[in-house]
Amino acid sequence: LTPKQLSGKKIVMTAGPTFEPIDPVRGITNQSSGQMGYAMARAFAQAGADVVLVSGPVALATPLGVTRVSVQTAEQMRQAVMREIAQAQVFVGVAAVADYRPLEVAEHKLKKTASVDSDGGRTITLTPNPDILAEVASLPAAPYCVGFAAESQNLDDYAEAKRLRKRLPLVIGNLVSDGLGTADNCVTLYDETGRYPLPPLSKPVLARRLVDELAARLNKA
Ligand code: PMT
Repeated sequence: LTPKQLSGKKIVMTAGPTFEPIDPVRGITNQSSGQMGYAMARAFAQAGADVVLVSGPVALATPLGVTRVSVQTAEQMRQAVMREIAQAQVFVGVAAVADYRPLEVAEHKLKKTASVDSDGGRTITLTPNPDILAEVASLPAAPYCVGFAAESQNLDDYAEAKRLRKRLPLVIGNLVSDGLGTADNCVTLYDETGRYPLPPLSKPVLARRLVDELAARLNKA
């Protein structure tokens, strides 16, 4: 019996969107379906890893053998990641985390007519959310950190800039038109040796390919 590729490795990862409440019924979120992250969680578990999947609100079943922690907001996602990260060898950020959240969350449902601006509009003040990936990557004993970059243009420039700014060994870049909320995806890998485009693949097939790419890099790291 040959040992599996990622046996003995603990992987903490995030997936799905976050939901940042405005009041008890409304909030700010995005179109991440969780499919990419869940496919990767399943592939990591099949490769023998101990997988903790910190997930925003999605309508997907937890993959077999994966420990799922369900959260709603970026701050809750951050706390769940930080609770698990000390023993992890790898962190993968697949979640589309809201960069900002409403500064104030109304206790009761906002009424249409209450506190509108003079022009009849309504202003919501946003405050920055923590950057979970940057925080994990800057830990003194940081695990091997993989970031995703979702862009609508200039993918090469923006993805490489994210890799350098957050000091990540590996970034997986995708165009939102290719991968957000879809069953397939087309990604390019960026590491310190260059850029490596992959063909369009279904997310489950792509996830298995990404496990191979990650395992090869972990063996060299
Ligand atoms: O869920 P699907 O519908 O299958 O779609 C998959 C996907 C398109 C969401 C996925 O492939 C993807 O690209 N995920 C990252 C989306 C994103 O928001 O990227 P970003 O460029 O904003 O963030 C860069 C990296 O930092 C990501 O790894 C992100 O998880 C992380 N991040 C960002 C902001 C923040 N506050 N905390 C973070 O950890």
